[in-house]
Amino acid sequence: MSESFYVTTPIYYVNDVPHIGHAYTTIAADVLARYHRSQGHRTRFLTGTDEHGQKIFKASKAQGLKPIELANQVVERFRVLWDRLGISFDDFIRTTQDRHAQVVQNIWKRVEGNGDIYLGSYEGWYCTGCEEYYTESTMDEGNLCPIHKTPLERLKEKSYFFRMSKYANALLEHIERHPEFIQPEIRKNEIVSFVKDGLRDLSVSRTSFDWGIKVPGDPEHVIYVWIDALTNYISGLGWNGTDRGGELFEQFWPAVHLIGKDILRFHAVYWPTLLMSAGLPLPKTVYAHGWWTVEGEKMSKSLRNVVEPHALVDAYGKDPVRYFLLREVPFGLDGDFSHHAIIGRINAELANDLGNLLRRSVTMAEKYTDSMAPKPGEQNELDKGLMNTAVASARDSARHLDNYAFHKALVSIWELVRAVNRYIDEAAPWTLYKKGERERLGTVIFHILEAIRWVAVMIGPFMPDTARTICEQLGISDDDEHMMRKSIEQWAGLAVGSRVKKGPALFPRIEPDRAKVLIFQFTEPLAESKQEHAVEDKMINIDDLKKVDLRLGLVKEAERIPKSKKLLKLMIDLGEEEPRQVVAGIGLAYTPEQLVGKRLLVVANLEPVKLMGVESKGMVMAAGPGGENVVVAQFDGELPAGESVH
Ligand code: MSP
Repeated sequence: MSESFYVTTPIYYVNDVPHIGHAYTTIAADVLARYHRSQGHRTRFLTGTDEHGQKIFKASKAQGLKPIELANQVVERFRVLWDRLGISFDDFIRTTQDRHAQVVQNIWKRVEGNGDIYLGSYEGWYCTGCEEYYTESTMDEGNLCPIHKTPLERLKEKSYFFRMSKYANALLEHIERHPEFIQPEIRKNEIVSFVKDGLRDLSVSRTSFDWGIKVPGDPEHVIYVWIDALTNYISGLGWNGTDRGGELFEQFWPAVHLIGKDILRFHAVYWPTLLMSAGLPLPKTVYAHGWWTVEGEKMSKSLRNVVEPHALVDAYGKDPVRYFLLREVPFGLDGDFSHHAIIGRINAELANDLGNLLRRSVTMAEKYTDSMAPKPGEQNELDKGLMNTAVASARDSARHLDNYAFHKALVSIWELVRAVNRYIDEAAPWTLYKKGERERLGTVIFHILEAIRWVAVMIGPFMPDTARTICEQLGISDDDEHMMRKSIEQWAGLAVGSRVKKGPALFPRIEPDRAKVLIFQFTEPLAESKQEHAVEDKMINIDDLKKVDLRLGLVKEAERIPKSKKLLKLMIDLGEEEPRQVVAGIGLAYTPEQLVGKRLLVVANLEPVKLMGVESKGMVMAAGPGGENVVVAQFDGELPAGESVH
C-alpha cells in the first residue's frame, strides 16, 4: 500500500475576512498536498472554518446578524479565495456541521469516561479576542490582553475542567521521543519550557453564552471553542468514536498540522493531551510558521494595511503570489510583505530566469529542430553536467519539502533554472545551427527541453498553472502522469518528436511605470491613514512640552532580556540616588556592550510599564524605522548624568 499523508490548516475564524496570513498557511498546505500527490502518496488535505464561540457571537451581534448568518457569508469569502488561489483541499469542514458536533461530543464522552473531566468553577481574566483566560502573571499591566492590548474581562463561571495537568510528563516524554513532533526547534523549546513550568487543568466549558456545541448531559454548558475547533482535525476524517476510528481515520491519521506561531500552545499542548486522554495517537507534526508584517508594520485594520489576497492576485497573478509567499521568507520565521520585494522577484526570478528561458528555448526548437523535441545523440561533459544538476535539484528540492523548507526547495529548483540558462550560453545552439552540426544541435535542444520539463514537474506544487503551461509549450499532453515526481527519476523522459509550441509569455515583466502605479495604489491608503493620525494629533504648546521631563542619562549597565531579540534592560544614571531600570527595544541595533558609558536622551517621567515581565521606568529616545535601523539620541562631551534637557 502506498504511503499516506494528511495535512491540515488551522480552521479560520469567521468574524473576519481572509487576509494574507490565512492565505499563507493554506498555500503552504496546498504545496505539500500537491507534492505528496505527485509522489503517488495517498493524500488528504483538510481546511475549514471555526464558527463557534464568543468572538463570533459578538461579531455577529455587532452586525445585526445571527451567528450562522455571519458564518455563511464569511465562509463563502474563504471558499472563493481558495478557489482563486488554486487550493486543492479534499474536504472543507465547518464546525457548525452536524458531522463535526457529533465527533466533538464523542471525544468529550471518551475523555469523561476516562475520568478526566470534572465540574468546578473558574474565575479569571478573559480575552474574547483570544478566547482564553489570562492570569495575573500572563496578562499585561493594567489588566490588558498581552496579544490584543485590550481590557480583559473578569469572569467567574461554573465550568468543566479537563485534567490536563495529569499529562504533563507524558507530553514531555512524547516530545523528547519524537523530534519531528513540534517544529521548528525554537517552538519545541518554547513548549518544553512551558510544560516544564507545570500544566494546570483546563477550563473546557462555558455558560455565559450558548453559541457552541453542548456538553453531553449538561446543556447549560457549551464546549470551549478551542476543544471544539481542534477536534476538526479528526471530525474531518469522520472519526467514529472508536479506537480504530473508521476508514478515513485509519488511513490518514496522524496529521501534519500547519499553523501560525500564535496558536502553538493550543496545538502542541491542549490538543495532544486531549488526544492522550481519549486514547488516540498524537499528530505526527505541528509546524508553526512565523508572522507577516506589511512594509515593516504590523497588519491591522486601523492602519488600513491588511493585505487583501484578491488584490494581490489581481495585481500579480495567482502563481507569482504563491511563489513569492513561500520564497521570500523561511517558513518558520517572521517576514515582511513588501510590494518592492514581490515586484523584484517577479521580474528577476520569474520573468527573467524562468520566463525567458522557456521563451528562448521554445523559439530555438521551433527554428532549429522543426518545432520538435529532437532525438538526442551521445552526451558530452557539458550535457552530463546539466543532467547532474537536474538530478541534484530534484533530490534537494524533495528533501527540503520533506523538511517544510519551502524557500530552500525553490532555491534548489532555481539552481537548475540558472544552470539551463548557462548551458544554453555555453552550448550555443545558434553556432551549431550555422555550422550545420545537426546531431549535436539535436542533443543540445533535447537537453534544454528535458531540463525545462524537470523544472515544470518540480514547480508544479508551487505554481500549478505555470507548470501546466510549460508542459503545453513542450508538447507534453496535459495528463497527470507527466506531472508526477517519478517522471523525473530518470533523464530523457521527454518523448522524442513531441511538438513544441510557443505561447504567451509566462510572466510579463512589471515595467517601472507599472510598478510605480502598483506601489502607489497599495501603499496610498497606508500613507493616508498615517496622515489622518497625524492631523488628529493636535499641536502642543510650551506648557505641554514642559510636562516632559527630558534628561541626560548615563548608561551604567546593559543586558539582554532573555527570550527577546529586541529588548535590552538598561540601568541608567539620571542623577538620582540609584540608577533607574529602563527597558529599550534597541537590541537589534546595539549590543549591550556598545551602550554602556553612552550619554542618552531619556524621558524620565513616563509611567512605568512592564515589558516581557521586566519593569521599565523611563524611555530612551531613538530615531529610525526600527529593527536594526535605529540610532539612539546621545550627547557629546562630559555633561553629568541627570542634566535636564530643554
Ligand atoms: N480559529 C483559530 C484556529 C483554530 S485551529 C483548530 C484561529 N483562527 S484565525 O483565523 O484567527 O487565524 C488562523 C491563522 O492565521 C493562524 O495560524 C494565524 O497564525 C494566522 N495568521 C493571522 N495573521 C497572520 C499574519 N499576519 N501572518 C501570518 N499568519 C497569520 O486562530
